[in-house]
This record gives sequence, structure tokens and C-alpha cells, in this order.
Amino acid sequence: MTAHLLKAEIHCHIEGAAPPALAAAQAKKYGVDTSHILRNGAYVWSDFAEFLICYDAVAALFKTADDYALLTETYLTELADANAIYSEIIVSPDHGDRIGLGADAYLAGISDGIHAAREKTGIEARIIVTGERHFGPDRVIAAAEYAARAKNPLVTGFNMAGEERMGRVADYARAFDIARDAGLGLTIHAGEVCGAFSVSDALDLVKPSRIGHGVRAIEDPVLVARLADLGIVLEICPGSNIALNVFPDFDSHPLRRLKVAGVRVCLNSDDPPFFGTSLAHEYEIASKIMGFSDQEIDTMTRTALDAAFVDEDTRCRLL
Ligand code: ADE
Ligand code: ZN
Repeated sequence: MTAHLLKAEIHCHIEGAAPPALAAAQAKKYGVDTSHILRNGAYVWSDFAEFLICYDAVAALFKTADDYALLTETYLTELADANAIYSEIIVSPDHGDRIGLGADAYLAGISDGIHAAREKTGIEARIIVTGERHFGPDRVIAAAEYAARAKNPLVTGFNMAGEERMGRVADYARAFDIARDAGLGLTIHAGEVCGAFSVSDALDLVKPSRIGHGVRAIEDPVLVARLADLGIVLEICPGSNIALNVFPDFDSHPLRRLKVAGVRVCLNSDDPPFFGTSLAHEYEIASKIMGFSDQEIDTMTRTALDAAFVDEDTRCRLL
């Protein structure tokens, strides 16, 4: 059992954390037909491309700052109930814009949810602004510019998520230059749907301190050694990887091999209800299915906190 272990995650997408029951309530409130994305209390998709479509459709059910505050507070409260002390939430201003809410109100709602959850449970959270790769380089640059000028102290990092097969990292590198110049922490989804080359490109062109997933680096032993040498933290999401068929089962998942090779790794839920998981469940998988000891799991939690895009006072308090 891992229920007693302290937990932390640094990779969870806010719309991806929407419980199906909450999405259904939102659909009812706004009179939206969700029969194509929500059936029998579960999200409906069959591969990565369909998952992204389903994700965008679920995001469109959250239309006001209050909707986002409720979603964020709901996610963080459940996390705190599972003994989590910290989360980094991946948010996409484009999703706020797309529903006509606007990025400022979108971010304000998420921030309100963070404050409400912290008040209630003590959990700490920060916001990582993300560009969505499948919305194209211009939108990713706009997201970086938005993050760079955000006056919100909870915004501490920049990411790129979405369809990894669209373009090459070089097409999006300018966005990361903008975010880096603004002093934001950098992480990028790479080596999830695409192979090791995507992780190499990210290291060469983005110079992040962390990589979202990065698991397909395992296909290139030289790259694995490079990740270890550089001390790059991989935000590993085992349940997501299995659900999206990146690996056929937990036995073939490379988490242990990466850890043994000296790569810094931590556990994350990504889009928990889409993948039938939760952070608590990821910890259980690591323990019961992957055979990690409590001590090894604690080390992964500390790695997440070590790599967190958070001020040193808060980090020291959490560690
Ligand atoms: N957006 C939400 N979840 C994602 C994932 N696992 N990969 C890429 N983009 C995402
Ligand atoms: Zn992700």
C-alpha cells in the first residue's frame, strides 16, 4: 500500500483532470450533447489522435472562470486527500481563448481554484503554461509570450503539449527562447508518441531541465546516458503510456530501466480520468506492479519536488 506515502506530481493537464461526472454536469448545465465523447461515465477515444480530439471537446465544457476554479479545486482536493503536497498544473491559454473566455479569465479561474484548495487542504500548486503543438508554431509562440508577460506569481513554467508528430521541435524553438528569457522553467512533451530523436531535438534546441514523458529515449542507450549526465528529470506517466499504447504493458514500461541507468524520474498522472488512473493509482502501480520499494518511491517524490518550478523557500518547506 502506498496510501501513507507523501506524493507530488509535476505533470497533470487541467482539462485532463476533469472527472467524467463533472464533465457530464457541465454538459447538462450548457445543454451540450456529449454522446460522442462520454459514455457510461467514461471518456471515449481509441488512439492518441482521438484522445486529443476528446480532450479538446471536454475542455470546451468549461466556459467560465468559475467553471475552471471548480475543476481545479476538485482536482487538487482529491490529490490532497491522497496525501499529495504539491502539483504542477499544465494549462493552455488557447483553451481559454477557444471558448471565448479569454486567457486572463481562464488563468484567474485556475488560480482561484488553487487558492481555495490550498486554504482547505494546505496543498501547494503552480501553473505551467503550455502551447499546444497541433495548434501550430504561431499559437505556441503566443502562449509563450502570454506566459512571459503574465503577472501571476503562480505561473512558473512553460511547456509544449499536443500532437508530437506535428512538425519538428525546431519549428517551436522560438517559443522556448521567449519563455527562457522571461525566467520560466522549461519542460516539453517529447519521446511519448515519437521516438528518441524527439528527445534529442528537445535537449539540443530547448535545453529544458525536465521532459514530459521522454520514455522513448530508451530506444537509444547513448541518449539515456546523456539524460543521466545532464540530470534531466523525466516526468513519467506510466498509466498514460499504457492507455495510449506507447508500451503494451507495465512489464515492458522502461521506468525501472531508466532509473537503473541513472536518469532522474518521477511519477505523474497526466490526464487521470482519461486513462482510468489517479496519482494515488500511479503510486500503487509503481509499488505493486513495477516492484519499487517505498524508499525508491519516496526518492521519486523528492525528485519531483527537487525539479519543481517553485521558489526555494517553498521547496525547502515541502522537502
Ligand atoms: N495533452 C494532454 N495530455 C497529453 C499527452 N499525454 N501528450 C501530449 N499532449 C497532451
Ligand atoms: Zn502530458
